[in-house]
Amino acid sequence: MNSKSVSGFSKLNKSQKIEWLSQNYLVESDDEQSTFETYWLPDQNVQKVIDGFSENTISNFIMPYGLAPNFMIDGKIFCVPMVIEESSVVAAASSAAKYWLDRGGFKTTILGTTKVGQVHFKWFGKHALIESIFPDIQAYLLQNVGPLIENMSKRGGGITKIELINFTDDEPGLYQIRVNFETCDSMGANFINSVLENFASGLEEYFVDSGLIPDELRDVDIIMSILSNYTPDCLVRSEVSCKIEDLGTFANGMMAEQLAEKFRTAVKIAHIDPYRATTHNKGIFNGIDSVILATGNDFRATEAAGHAFAARDGQYRSLSYCEIKDGIFRFWLDVPLAIGTVGGLTSLHPLAKKSLDVLGNPSAEQLMRIIASVGLAQNFAAIRSLVTTGIQQGHMKMHLMNILNHLGASDSECSDAVVFFEDKTVSFSGVRDFLSSIR
Ligand code: MEV
Repeated sequence: MNSKSVSGFSKLNKSQKIEWLSQNYLVESDDEQSTFETYWLPDQNVQKVIDGFSENTISNFIMPYGLAPNFMIDGKIFCVPMVIEESSVVAAASSAAKYWLDRGGFKTTILGTTKVGQVHFKWFGKHALIESIFPDIQAYLLQNVGPLIENMSKRGGGITKIELINFTDDEPGLYQIRVNFETCDSMGANFINSVLENFASGLEEYFVDSGLIPDELRDVDIIMSILSNYTPDCLVRSEVSCKIEDLGTFANGMMAEQLAEKFRTAVKIAHIDPYRATTHNKGIFNGIDSVILATGNDFRATEAAGHAFAARDGQYRSLSYCEIKDGIFRFWLDVPLAIGTVGGLTSLHPLAKKSLDVLGNPSAEQLMRIIASVGLAQNFAAIRSLVTTGIQQGHMKMHLMNILNHLGASDSECSDAVVFFEDKTVSFSGVRDFLSSIR
């Protein structure tokens, strides 16, 4: 066994884990307080809550928490919290929010709120038989699951559809029970998975006890029960529009008509070419993920759903659309967002809770509207830069501070550098040369 392996690691306390790590893995040793300890929270109760989210924790990984004000969404103005480490994302969102504030803001539509779960199983009887008794199976499963869904039903949610899907052409004996859920303001992952596991054991019982299945076919083999992160019917649209002439004039003196046409073409390219579509959608998720993180939602689930949705016709394409018709510029985003504003981390993480407070404690649907609008704003800002000045000008301006910090610049050196690079291209070597020239 590798000498660096360990058993009983989870039983060590934090300091012991750090000690073990530095003895076995760290190349640079911390002389004073360990870097990991520097980021422990002073309030031990909060630290305990944060530690409870994961396992084997030794520290907290900090990220910037920023605000993008001036988001007018369906007539109401929001200041949106964003957690992201990439320079210029918050600045871009804020700039696009302000731009559209003067042009009617973002208008949103909830296109669906359905979440999905699946019980995968094998059974080797005749398909016609299972199909004919499926209504009876459904009734049995629903009766069985009753107490589990009581609370959700009271809140207006629950199970909205149950289907049997036959995959036996792809794999002998393979079926799926696909279940649609309404989970109201919760993301509902635990609720869905509990219902599905209950369905799985109910299915096994039904095959043994119903008396409708011949003795030799009573064995149903449950493979797995789990929600699906593909949620094409938990979908929100956010859009902006205005008369072309109201778009105004852009950097480099670009006029509204030219901007509109280049912009439309840039979006079209992301519908034609998956290489561009991936970058284009990544920009959208710069906005989406940062609000998902700030509100304690699951960014992996959101990303997985978004990218699967982007490939729903067999080719990966843009999640946003642009149209120029009758003198109107219209730009919109359709994105699946299976999120929650109650349960999970949303109320446990102190800053997630605060973010929801900042947003006026929205329902899950309201949060879908906000997040989609931030995604669209981000996409708007990125394309506007790409088709006018190029992305690097703004990006490197924001990145200047990172380079200065990296090179250990003082406050006054930073101020001088900002003035010096006002009309110049920022690069690592350029900043290094500038600092040596003034030091
Ligand atoms: C960078 O994080 C995101 C962009 O590349 C998005 C885009 O190209 O549309 C600027």
